[in-house]
Parts: sequence; C-alpha cells; structure tokens
Amino acid sequence: MTTNAEWMALEDETQLATYKKWPIALAKGYGSTVEDVEGRTYLDLYGGHCVAFLGHNHPHVVQAIKDQADQLLFYSNAAYAPARARASARLARMAPEGMSKVFFINSGAEANESAMKIARKATGRANVVAVEGDFHGRTLGALATTWETQYRKGYEKAFGPVTFIPLGDSETAREVILREQPAAVIIEPIQSMGGMRTAPVEYFQTLEAACREAGSMLIFDEVQTGVGRTGAFTYAQLIGVRPHMITLAKSLGGGVPVAAVLIDDAVAAKVGYGEQGTTFGGGMLAMAAVDAALEVVENEHLSQRARFIWDTLEAGCRERGLRCQGAGCLMGIDFGQPVGPIIAGLRAKGILTGGSADPNIMRLMPPAVLTAEEIGSFFAAIDEILVAA
Ligand SMILES: Cc1ncc(COP(=O)(O)O)c(C=O)c1O
Repeated sequence: MTTNAEWMALEDETQLATYKKWPIALAKGYGSTVEDVEGRTYLDLYGGHCVAFLGHNHPHVVQAIKDQADQLLFYSNAAYAPARARASARLARMAPEGMSKVFFINSGAEANESAMKIARKATGRANVVAVEGDFHGRTLGALATTWETQYRKGYEKAFGPVTFIPLGDSETAREVILREQPAAVIIEPIQSMGGMRTAPVEYFQTLEAACREAGSMLIFDEVQTGVGRTGAFTYAQLIGVRPHMITLAKSLGGGVPVAAVLIDDAVAAKVGYGEQGTTFGGGMLAMAAVDAALEVVENEHLSQRARFIWDTLEAGCRERGLRCQGAGCLMGIDFGQPVGPIIAGLRAKGILTGGSADPNIMRLMPPAVLTAEEIGSFFAAIDEILVAA
C-alpha cells in the first residue's frame, strides 16, 4: 500500500469512529516537518497536538530511546531504575523551588486525576473549583472539571461537586473559594482549546492567596503550557505564582507518552504508601525519553526560542491587523471570521494548524525549532488565502 487513501480505508475499518481526522496518513517527522505516505511534506504548526515542542524525532531523544531499548524496556515501580532516578532528579531540578517531589503517570488526564486525588486526601474534602473554558482531559474526574458540555454531557454524576468560576474575575474567584473551601482549585493557565485565553497575573495571585486562606490545593494544569513552551519551564515560574501541584504531559517525553505531577514538598509529605500507583508510570523507556527531552529543553534554550517564535508570529499578526493571545509556542489568532476554511486552505498548501472552541480562533502550537523562514511561509500562505477569499 502506498497511498493516503489506502491507509485511511484500512484504519477506518477497525478504529472506533471517535476522531475526525485529516485526510492524510503520516509516516515520518523531523524538526517542524511531517511527511505523509506519499512523500508530501507539511509544516507542523499544530505540533502533533502540542506534543512536538522539541521538533519531531529529536535525534537526542531518539538515541536515548534506542539505547534504553537495548537495555531494559520496562520494569514497574516495584524496583528502582537508573533511568527513573535520572529523569526524576532532572525534572525536580527544573521545577519551581519547593516542588521537589515527582509522580509519573502516562497521560495528561491521569496527571490531573492524580493531583485531584492527592488534594482530596490531603484536605479531607471532596469538592473542586474549576474555571469556565478549561479542558482537563477525558477520564471521569478530569472530565468533570472540563468546561465544554460537548465533552461532559452524559457523565455529570461521575465525580464530586464541581463549581465553575469565570476566568479572570478575581473577586468572584476569591468569594467562591472562601465560601466553598474546596479540596482543590484546578486551572489551565492558558486555555488552549478555549482559544488560548488567559488572565492577568493578578488573577492567579488571587487564586494562590485564596487557596492558602481556605486550605485548598491550587493545581496548575500545565499539560500544554509546561516544559518550556511559554518562555519558562512552567507558566507558574513565568508569572511567579506558586501552586501546590503542577501537571505536565504533552512535550514531557519529546513524543513518548508520559506525564508527571510536580508536588509541593509539604503536600507530598502527606501522601502515604499505596495511595497512588500505576503499572506503566515511570517505565524505563518513557524515563529515558523524559531525561533526554529535558536535557534538550535546557541545552538548546528552548524557552528562549519559544519567546522568539512568539515575537516573530505576533509581529506578523500585527502587520495584518490580526489579534493574537497566549504565550510562547502557544498562540491563538483571531481572524474575526470562522477559521475552518482557512485551516483547510493552509493544509492544502502543506501547513497544519488547529481550531479551537472559538470558531474564529486558530491555534498554533509549533515546535520551538520553527525558523523565521518557516513563519514567513505561514504568513505568505495566509495572505494568499485571505486575498483569494
Ligand atoms: C490542558 C490539558 N489538560 C489535560 C489534557 C489531557 O491530556 P491527555 O490527552 O494526555 O489525557 C489535555 C489534552 O489535550 C490538555 O490540553
């Protein structure tokens, strides 16, 4: 089989029909580029769903995975392992000060579930405050704190009580947190699916202060914003706010599925043996990938690159009168018209981008290795599409 159509037909025969897919079958990736089975290349500004922050198939990560695969693919947390010890130490060193405990799991949703479970145990409370517009994952607990009813409908009774507060309204946030004294307040600091909406630093400071006053745990869902993507290792560090827990996934393994919860030392001290656990969390292959990916983030100064990419993209948007929001390699561009046809037009020109819950906002989650020249080709394609329209 050699064509996109043939592979699409074979996959559709057996895959549960739950994803709307682009009509391409991808076979290769390198840097900001992916290639389909027919050899056509695409500039990946969608970043493999926000995973490829290091670029696709970063050679250092690929080599680390190959080396680990030669040694030991997997053993569980029943035993210690050099790969896990190294990855954990590096991650704790890059984490905000005083958050030196790490719990590894396998996906973003699982990371949020784990954080909320820790919060419930540590506080002895069950309710959670979440933020309108947030996305936290598809497992039942994470889903209960996800705003869009298209994801949540039919599963409302799956979790303890959840109260949603508006993003950016400090007064309401403080009032609700002090009144409800929840186990946790969970927030996606930049709402990616929500169109890259965020709030002023003062809002996050209010959440931190109110949580400390109410004895509630503040959880930053940094599944997308973490690992250097917004210009610092975590968004919490970028804005100087200190949550009790931070969840990471997406870019953490450089393309290998893995997630982590960073936990405040005082909170971690309340977690006992057997309270959290997963077979595959902290497995050697994933740990080798994490250690190598974090080394690349540090050595190649990817946070700095993320800021350069933001500045270059933002300047291009400004020239065209397009408003953008987000930070670093997470950008929402408001076209003031539905972006569906523009996204399809870009894909036809070999450029992958994403939509969001706001039909007018296009999402870019590009790799940090994106060049000024590649950004130029994105805007040239946008100009052609807008002129033709
Ligand atoms: C902010 C955020 N949190 C959690 C998740 C869930 O992560 P996963 O799909 O790995 O379970 C996602 C996934 O897109 C996300 O964007």
